[in-house]
This record gives sequence, C-alpha cells and structure tokens, in this order.
Amino acid sequence: MRKEFSPEERKEGFLEGKVALVTGGGGGIGWGIVTEFAREGARVAIVDIDERQSREVLSLAEEISPGHYFYRADIRDIGRFEGLLDRIEADIGMVDVLVNNAGVNTPHSFLEMTPEAFDQVYDVNVRGHFFLSQEVAKRMIAAQKQGVILFITSVHQEVVQGHPHYSSSKASLSMLVKEMAVELAPYGIRVVGIAPGGIYIEKRVEDPGLANDEPSVILGGKNGIPRDIGRAAVMLVSDYWSRHITGEVLTVAGGQYLLPASRETCRRLF
Ligand SMILES: NC(=O)c1ccc[n+]([C@@H]2O[C@H](COP(=O)([O-])OP(=O)(O)OC[C@H]3O[C@@H](n4cnc5c(N)ncnc54)[C@H](O)[C@@H]3O)[C@@H](O)[C@H]2O)c1
Repeated sequence: MRKEFSPEERKEGFLEGKVALVTGGGGGIGWGIVTEFAREGARVAIVDIDERQSREVLSLAEEISPGHYFYRADIRDIGRFEGLLDRIEADIGMVDVLVNNAGVNTPHSFLEMTPEAFDQVYDVNVRGHFFLSQEVAKRMIAAQKQGVILFITSVHQEVVQGHPHYSSSKASLSMLVKEMAVELAPYGIRVVGIAPGGIYIEKRVEDPGLANDEPSVILGGKNGIPRDIGRAAVMLVSDYWSRHITGEVLTVAGGQYLLPASRETCRRLF
C-alpha cells in the first residue's frame, strides 16, 4: 500500500513507477501530457505516426527523467495492437495508464462530407482508440492491475463546431467513457476524460499571448497551453487525486463556451 502524503511533503511524483502509453504523444497536447507525466515519475511510451515530432518530445521527456520510448504506430491499425503492447511490456513494463489522445479533423461541413473524410476522422478518433482500450483493459484484467484509461475529447463533444464528423466523434468518446467505466469498475479500472477548449499547441510556448475571439468568456482572454491539459491529466490518472473518480469527463477550457457563441462566431462557421 502506498504511503499517503500531502502535496507539499511529497518526495516522489504522483505517477512514480507507472507506465503510461500516450497516443499522439508527439503532437501539441501530447507534448504537454508526456512531459508532465515524466515530471511526475512515469515512464512513457509515445505512440504516434509522426516520428520526427515524437523524437523531439521524447528527448524533452528524457531531459526530465530517463526511461521513455517512442513507437511508430498507426492507431487505425488495430490488428497490430497486440504486437505493440508486447513490445512496450518487454521494454518498460505493462501499461498502467492509457491516454487516448491522438485525434484528427478535416474541414468538411455536413453537406460537404465524403465517406473518406468521415472514416478518416472516426477511424482515428473512435475506432482505433476503442480497440486499443479493449486490448489494454483485457491485459489489465488478466494481470489484476487497477489501471486508468483517459480519453482526450473536446468541448465540441457538446458545442457545435461546423465539422460534424469531428464533434460527433468526440461526443461518442464522452459516452464511451461512461460505458467503459461501468463495465470496468468491477475490476478497479477507472475510465475518465478531458474535454479541452482551445489549446495553443505551438511547442514550448508558455504563454500564447493570444486574445481568443471565439468564446464569450475565457480566463485571461487567452487559449490554454498543452501543459494545462498535461497537469489535468496527471490529476485524473493519479490514484492520490482521483482514486474515487470514474466515468467523468473534465472540461479544461478556461470558461470557454460557458456563454453561447457570439453571432460573429456563427457567421464564421456557417
Ligand atoms: N488543440 C486544441 O485546441 C484541441 C482542443 C480540443 C481537443 N483537442 C484534441 O486533443 C488531441 C490532441 O490534439 P493536438 O491539438 O495536440 O493535435 P496535434 O495534431 O498536434 O496532435 C495529434 C497527434 O496525433 C498523431 N496522430 C494522428 N493520426 C494518428 C494515427 N492514425 N495514429 C497515431 N497517431 C496519430 C499526430 O501525428 C499528432 O502527433 C486530439 O484528440 C484533439 O482532437 C485539441
């Protein structure tokens, strides 16, 4: 049993000894999650199709703590998940924390939608993560590991965006969090989500310095940064903060969309 400690007294990170798999770990928000996890003691498996970006994030994580890995893999390739997880287990150990973060969008409205664009978004955002979660959960159950699965959704799980395949894919993830939470609760596996608002994903930028013209309300008038999502992710996956939280999606958006969109935003979207 891990010793309890107050945040001020702690001598070890909140994710000490944990192995975390982060899909899309080479991307903007992925950078925030991977580096914050590394800071809290986790060893991270970055899974992404973009090798150049991912290696950059990997070396930033290595500057913080040693023992992270990159795996080039396409989240749409569900037939290869068993092999991928076998490799991660051999390299760093069994996954304690899965972060389903990779996500794509295309600029199609409902009337412009093509089956290809629809599948492109659903195959990554929903189908790939559905079956990766299934494989990870089966392994956790077999090993009696009480792990955590975190989905990165979006405020557009509820707010209209003008790209209905993207927003509906994120809405579907928010329901999946609840379905999986109920089915996996008997095994002690928690399933949670984060719905980010606008996040400025330029790497290593601490302050976006941008007034956000879209929302009616936002803290400081600025978008969030990847670290804001990374720290919320630490909180939700850590046993210390969130041992009794499952089936919930936390909005991290600085108050964005608390008020309805302005007429100007509607004109721009449609
Ligand atoms: N940036 C924002 O404002 C914002 C807001 C709300 C939600 N989100 C969500 O956050 C998540 C991360 O987005 P981001 O802003 O960091 O975008 P990003 O494009 O910087 O990162 C996405 C990462 O996913 C990887 N990826 C894409 N397709 C893949 C595939 N088939 N297999 C494996 N990896 C793949 C990309 O290579 C990239 O590294 C997404 O799910 C996105 O929908 C972002």
